[in-house]
Amino acid sequence: MAEKITVSLIKADVGGWPGHATVHPDLIKSAEETLKRAKDEGKIIDFHVTGVGDDLQLIMTHRKGVDSEEIHALAWDAFKKATDVAKKLKLYGAGQDLLADAFSGNVRGMGPGVAEMEFTERKAEPIVAFMMDKTEPGAFNLPIFKIFADPFNTAGLVIDPSMHAGFRFEIWDIKEHKRVFMGAPEELYSILTLVGAKSRYVIKRIYPKEGGKLPADEPVAVISTEKLYQIAGEYVGKDDPVALVRAQSGLPALGEVLEGFSFPHLVSGWMRGSHNGPLMPVSVKDAHCTRFDGPPRVVALGFQIANGRLVGPVDLFDDPAFDPMRQQAAEIATYMRRHGPFEPHRLPLEEMEYTTLPKVLKGLKDRFEEL
Ligand code: F6R
Ligand code: MG
Ligand code: MG
Repeated sequence: MAEKITVSLIKADVGGWPGHATVHPDLIKSAEETLKRAKDEGKIIDFHVTGVGDDLQLIMTHRKGVDSEEIHALAWDAFKKATDVAKKLKLYGAGQDLLADAFSGNVRGMGPGVAEMEFTERKAEPIVAFMMDKTEPGAFNLPIFKIFADPFNTAGLVIDPSMHAGFRFEIWDIKEHKRVFMGAPEELYSILTLVGAKSRYVIKRIYPKEGGKLPADEPVAVISTEKLYQIAGEYVGKDDPVALVRAQSGLPALGEVLEGFSFPHLVSGWMRGSHNGPLMPVSVKDAHCTRFDGPPRVVALGFQIANGRLVGPVDLFDDPAFDPMRQQAAEIATYMRRHGPFEPHRLPLEEMEYTTLPKVLKGLKDRFEEL
């Protein structure tokens, strides 16, 4: 029996450099030191630390399962220590995503974003860690839908007998805190009815169908769904999402997974969490949010997992084949910017993270007339 491995991708913005643009290398170094100690003590098998936009990203492998108190405490500790470094450097918004004063068993609901899954490691296990900045969890809906349900994206759905039955989608209603499981392709149109409304319904996990090559109860993709402003009840920062996607041998091929990001679709969360803009696929070295604090970006790091060891990363969007998409995203960014404070560049009122509208309306109270 092959062993079960857990991959945990946990991220937080604990300070930007400068403003909300990037992660300072000293924060990455601090987190690496914390995780190196944990690896030496045998708590985790392996790790990789990186920064995407202003978010510090911890990718860890271990045998403790999802929601492990020990692993979450370790991530919290790494973020706390990095915050101390951020405070010394007076980085921008030091510790901003750490919403609680002390760790209490699980980082979910405490500020950091989490994507983790436990699965039986296959003979060869390719996995991609996707990390986005300046956007929200629903930004993954379109690419994940394309990867696991759209035959125009994923040729394997049509021509690979082991994928032909499709996949099972776990969809969350993040406002009502409910979830539903739905099957593709048989419920394709109903799935789209939900996930097309990406500010409310988000794809949380994807599972293989029963009777296929892979265990139907082990996820093949998982997306973080934390909404920071809902946690704190007010605007405290972005809920920039992350995801883990396994590939190949009965799953979408690596190239089919990446192809899901070949269209720079419009996502919300740019500038002040209050604007729509195109999602630009970039390499780690280009994951610097500079233009109008963006545009929103996505990075993909690929690994093979060998008995929990992370063999990698390979910076998958560091490829001239994605230059046309970056160019297109830059053009769309310019087009959207021309709208200035007008929708649909600016988000509809109910989705904005903050607004001066109540104050403006108060000032106009006596000047509004009945029609
Ligand atoms: C943060 C972000 C930024 C900020 C903006 C204003 O990740 O997306 O666009 O919202 O820079 O930041 P404050 O209010 O901190 O000056
Ligand atoms: Mg920030
Ligand atoms: Mg961020």
